Amino acid sequence: MNPPQDTGTHHDIGWTPIAEEAERAARVLHPEDHQLPRPSHRRIMTVANQKGGVGKTTTAVNLAAGLALHGLRTLVIDLDPQGNASTALNVDHRSGTPSVYEILLGEVSLVDAAQVSEQSPNLLCVPATIDLAGAEIELVSMASRESRLKEALSREALEELDVDYIFIDCPPSLGLLTVNAMVAAHEVLIPIQCEYYALEGLGQLLNNIDLVQKHLNRTLAVSTILLTMYDGRTKLADQVTQEVRNHFGDVVLKTVIPRSVKVSEAPGYGQTVLAYDPGSRGAMSYLDAAREMAERGAASRERQ
Ligand SMILES: Nc1ncnc2c1ncn2[C@@H]1O[C@H](COP(=O)(O)OP(=O)(O)O)[C@@H](O)[C@H]1O
Ligand SMILES: [Mg+2]
Repeated sequence: MNPPQDTGTHHDIGWTPIAEEAERAARVLHPEDHQLPRPSHRRIMTVANQKGGVGKTTTAVNLAAGLALHGLRTLVIDLDPQGNASTALNVDHRSGTPSVYEILLGEVSLVDAAQVSEQSPNLLCVPATIDLAGAEIELVSMASRESRLKEALSREALEELDVDYIFIDCPPSLGLLTVNAMVAAHEVLIPIQCEYYALEGLGQLLNNIDLVQKHLNRTLAVSTILLTMYDGRTKLADQVTQEVRNHFGDVVLKTVIPRSVKVSEAPGYGQTVLAYDPGSRGAMSYLDAAREMAERGAASRERQ
């Protein structure tokens, strides 16, 4: 174990790893003193990457939890038939539960499908049920098939839910569900795994974003890239990080999410890592990323 570093904050209690972890946990769990600034306008963010397993769902639910725990009303829309975001937020998503599927069909409203997560009264989730698995094909023959989610995210519905942030968790494809998410959003958040092949397929994703931007949603932009599953022991992780930063510049958040067992264990308990182990490095890094996003969102108000 490394010798304790004197940060000047541990003199009274004496430094112990447990004391430090408790202090970190307190920052997550008692956030009264650390409220995050509200964004200049309601931010609708699509979390997309057609690769599976890069951290889309983990990022959507943990950023949402970080913002919600610090006073910002946040909605997660689970748009993946696997329903992993619904699982992590522990909201009912058995077949037949009012979900994003019925929203796309126009059968229920956003407000009627939204459930409050037990992790915070500020954290809402529209679940995905297995019924969504057929939607990609069913949508093909429907009128305005690309903008059905956008229509459901009406100003009135969002005002009724009173949310500051909306994260749409996409499936690992560039099909009609992801197109619906891109049409409904203002911003795209791309999680990139710090692994070999991380950048493969990114060109295709960016092309699709361009196409949506040209033809369906002129306001869409890639506003945020988050590096996930960083393993400090490998040179490769640093190389990927550097390459992504060189290529995308300021869009890449300074915070990098480390690979951490706690992050991967949390959904098994129906929790975000912020609830499961608030003092862990994974929780702290998602909280840091949430803060960075919130500060950028508030700063854009000053520039306007
Ligand atoms: N920082 C991390 N450290 C360890 N495991 C992670 C981390 N982020 C995600 N995982 C795990 O990796 C897997 C894929 O993540 P997930 O968010 O489901 O990706 P996606 O939604 O892009 O398919 C999941 O099992 C998840 O628990
Ligand atoms: Mg996912």
